[in-house]
Amino acid sequence: MSETDPLVVFTPSGKRGRFAPGTPVLTAARKLGVDLDSVCGGRGICSKCQITPSYGEFSKHGLTAREGALSDWNAVEARYDEKRGLKAGRRLGCQAQILGDIVIDVPPESQVHRQVVRKAASARVIEMNPATRLYYIEVDAPDMHEPTGDLERIARALAAQWSIPEITCDFNALTRLQPVLRKGEWRITVALYRETETAVPRLIGAWPGLLEGGIYGLAIDLGSTTVAAHLTSLDTGEVVASSGIMNPQIRFGEDLMSRVSYAMMNPGGDVEMTRAVREAMDTLIGEIAAEAGIGADRILEAVLVCNPVMHHLLLGIDPVELGQAPFALATSAHLNLTARDLDLDALPASAQIYILPCIAGHVGADAAAVALSEEPGKSDDLVLVVDVGTNAEILLGDTSRVLACSSPTGPAFEGAQISSGQRAAPGAIEAIRIDPATKEPRFKVIGCDLWSDEEGFAEAVGPGGITGICGSGIIEAVAEMRIAGLIDPSGLIGNAAQTGTPRCVPEGRTNAYLIADASKTGGPRITVTQGDIRAIQLAKSALYAGARLLMDEMGVDKVDRVVLAGAFGAHISPKHAMVLGMIPDAPLEKVTSAGNAAGTGARIALCNLPARAEIERTVRRITKIETAIEPKFQEHFVNANAIPHAVDPFPELNSVVTLPPVSFSTGGESEGGRKRRRKRA
Ligand code: FES
Repeated sequence: MSETDPLVVFTPSGKRGRFAPGTPVLTAARKLGVDLDSVCGGRGICSKCQITPSYGEFSKHGLTAREGALSDWNAVEARYDEKRGLKAGRRLGCQAQILGDIVIDVPPESQVHRQVVRKAASARVIEMNPATRLYYIEVDAPDMHEPTGDLERIARALAAQWSIPEITCDFNALTRLQPVLRKGEWRITVALYRETETAVPRLIGAWPGLLEGGIYGLAIDLGSTTVAAHLTSLDTGEVVASSGIMNPQIRFGEDLMSRVSYAMMNPGGDVEMTRAVREAMDTLIGEIAAEAGIGADRILEAVLVCNPVMHHLLLGIDPVELGQAPFALATSAHLNLTARDLDLDALPASAQIYILPCIAGHVGADAAAVALSEEPGKSDDLVLVVDVGTNAEILLGDTSRVLACSSPTGPAFEGAQISSGQRAAPGAIEAIRIDPATKEPRFKVIGCDLWSDEEGFAEAVGPGGITGICGSGIIEAVAEMRIAGLIDPSGLIGNAAQTGTPRCVPEGRTNAYLIADASKTGGPRITVTQGDIRAIQLAKSALYAGARLLMDEMGVDKVDRVVLAGAFGAHISPKHAMVLGMIPDAPLEKVTSAGNAAGTGARIALCNLPARAEIERTVRRITKIETAIEPKFQEHFVNANAIPHAVDPFPELNSVVTLPPVSFSTGGESEGGRKRRRKRA
């Protein structure tokens, strides 16, 4: 390189350097460490190296780029353009040669470490740096005079053509290598997987010629109630399909502890549950691949997050130890496995499975995934992250330290164990307002944009009508009933005379609030019963008590902000969550939603290998609090039974909402209601 050589400036990186005329752009990019992709190693067949040259006067860069600064369009580019089409102004970086000063833009889709912007409000970007990457190689044909194995010649090609000095090979991939090499006439694409950034890459897949269409990974959130998966391109980070399935283990017990007891009481019960969940995962993987139109052989990785009981059941480990103190996990470390280890037949046997580390006996890899997604340990202010589900995962922290616990909320927040409850599906009431003066409700149902008091609502809801209340609907209903003075702080529903509305109807020895009645036309009668209120009180008390325990440990009485996560966290209104006393008092604008943070954490770990090391380190630093053995938990739980709370003041909430000081106690029901035992979910 000399001072008279052409100057090249790459954007957006700003990296610059001088190169001898005739240097391919890809070579220049590599020398400067510019992030420009290539699978074929510069052979002009993968099109990953596309760049956009810019011409004109660039005072900012101190250069003028003239026509002719790059070599002319060559035959390789013309052929590619003819077959696949190159966007206007684009060139192939491995073909275009530098002849004069030039500014070259690397578009996002040509960057290996491109950033994937999440749709969620917090919009953490994910930098693509997957564990598995593709390499196209030309392998020497075997030679009788110099006998070597096919794998050894592949390793030689990778060393010579990609500077990868050493590889290992998955056994299953090895058994398939020879026909691939011969079909590809010694030109093949291999997939190399790295367990860590410094690990020796492992060959886990091979295809004849250049593999078109890329490879994929799955981010799987294995919950107690549902299993959700996002099929993600390992090239672009784009989620190409998302799907969910009910966890078939529900038939062995709704909540986790009943599944543990099933395993304890029934010899072989754990094996049965392991088989059930693995079969469900196979079904889900098959469905999601079919939906995306992708052969399952292209799915080379899966990242899994789950709670400790699901973790053990998936792995085929009897969860019995998790049912009794001291709640010992078989291992809390992250795991690197293969589809073969887990008998997942829908994936290639050599597909790599990464399971995030667990935090403690009741705080699983799902909580670790929430920590990876929401990064409480990087927050300057004190943040409480609650992932609301059948079990609530709770994290509290800032840059000084992070605490975690899990609390048994039960399925009430998901609409289960609620008289008119149902899962979030069309027809379910998801939002409700009650007029404090008239006590009349208005509501919205899933699948319809209109409120129930708006014209055209009945037609818009359609023939299915209103079918029930989902989790966010029941939270709003109870909070609105408290705001409207239909329930008192103890959670007791007043009768028609006490509340002044005929919608408060007797039901047994208690009262219920009638939201909608379609019984005349054969539809359901949707009420909130005293039992429903109690179920919600138990759930929210468990959640609040868990958060309080962490606050005690941290030595604080308030938090700066609250993040609601979980599949339906996105739909919970902060005001209603606080009226209910689900979460500690905080300024309403500081209560935000993170959507499915555990699923996002899984996606981050899938797309970014260094994130795996990061969460492994982070988990070791998180302080675990075990709610089941903390004596204070019970006290916090009882105090949290009141709506919003028996003793904790809620100054922020009181500044925006005035809760009526009603009392409907007759000394009978409420005691009985409170005596209901809470059960660990
Ligand atoms: Fe593959 Fe340029 S590097 S086409």
